[in-house]
Amino acid sequence: MPVLLKIRRRFAEDKPLEGTQIGAALHVTKETGVLVRTLKAGGASVVLCGSNPLSTNDYVAAALAEDGINVYAWRGETTEEYYRCMNRVLDYSPRIIHDDGADIICLVHEKRQNLAENIIVAQEETTTGINRLRAMEKKGVLKFPVIAINDARTKRLFDNRYGTGQSTIDGILRATGILLAGKKFVVAGYGWCGRGIAMRARGMGANVIVTEIGPVKALEAVMDGFTVMPMTEVAALGDVFVTATGNTKVIRREHMRLMKDGAILANAGHFNVEISIPDLQSISKDRELILPNVEAFTLEDGRRLYLLGEGRLVNLVCAEGHPPEVMDMSFANQALCAEYAMKHGKELEKKVHNVPDEVDYLVAKLKLETMNVTIDRPTEEQIKYTEGWKLGT
Ligand SMILES: NC(=O)c1ccc[n+]([C@@H]2O[C@H](COP(=O)([O-])OP(=O)(O)OC[C@H]3O[C@@H](n4cnc5c(N)ncnc54)[C@H](O)[C@@H]3O)[C@@H](O)[C@H]2O)c1
Repeated sequence: MPVLLKIRRRFAEDKPLEGTQIGAALHVTKETGVLVRTLKAGGASVVLCGSNPLSTNDYVAAALAEDGINVYAWRGETTEEYYRCMNRVLDYSPRIIHDDGADIICLVHEKRQNLAENIIVAQEETTTGINRLRAMEKKGVLKFPVIAINDARTKRLFDNRYGTGQSTIDGILRATGILLAGKKFVVAGYGWCGRGIAMRARGMGANVIVTEIGPVKALEAVMDGFTVMPMTEVAALGDVFVTATGNTKVIRREHMRLMKDGAILANAGHFNVEISIPDLQSISKDRELILPNVEAFTLEDGRRLYLLGEGRLVNLVCAEGHPPEVMDMSFANQALCAEYAMKHGKELEKKVHNVPDEVDYLVAKLKLETMNVTIDRPTEEQIKYTEGWKLGT
């Protein structure tokens, strides 16, 4: 993660976060470890919990704890433990929050409101979190400003698309070891993540079919060369189903009843609600863990459907999440926005804000530098031309 390391070296000299208490609720992966150490180098005290009960890498949690970071996270937390860990992070009364999915931000709004005034800025990492926060902004209930890290171009173009694309396939393969070539591979949702997953599954020789509810996204999928169908029609055809919608009950009882024996179900969206597990349970006579992260649900007529990673983020539960090369950019945005929050947080309204353009550009510029890629500079004449309007045919 060379961009983040570059930022860390500067942070170690400038100490832009000196004395600041940061509370982070992020997937506890090795990449998050690099971010946490960067924030610490900048002078912050960091306390960390997970943003999903099943995504913590215990080795990383232990290594950070050895570094003196307070970590409240382990793989396989119950829901109660998950919230207990979040509450422990809030006990430190953080000034800046790094969230992924908006659970800790919502916890402050619902149960720990006395802490809100002390929070300068919260930073949100993922689409689902941003959707929740925009809903809060619309209702006028947001108690502090939020920076939408997810919406930076250097985040979602790469992390959501290439990161989720590759690591979702990685998770499915690590869990099942199946051959993708020739499989009917259904991707629900053709947003940033779905597009990446569809693209990579096609690259492995799968026959990819997309489901959508948005006409423009559906059209894009068609023009990208994918078949688009409703879930009710494709349910009986698919060998592998992956949801990436940020929505709920995208695969439910009526679809599961139609599925082939041996169909594999996985979710790449933020919460474990995209595949209705209560529905799956209700039509099954038996449920058995047959491999790590693979549960077989046996239906009344003997057909078996396989659910990966308990319907939680398949790339984080069954693999190691996004590759460091993309998290380098996502977390560079997180680190630089924490610095921005210290300088400008007090001027921001209690709304969801975009990552400042200068941060987005800087991350792209630094990433290109670390990849030894140089680009052209416009000439004076070109600048004048693109800024003017008088020159035509
Ligand atoms: N696994 C990961 O590591 C990872 C990384 C980034 C984002 N995410 C999560 O993945 C989800 C998708 O994120 P995104 O950035 O692609 O969002 P997005 O908004 O770009 O795309 C979501 C798409 O799903 C479609 N959709 C919604 N409901 C649907 C339904 N019932 N059936 C079919 N399509 C439907 C929408 O029309 C949209 O095109 C979010 O929950 C996000 O938080 C996960």
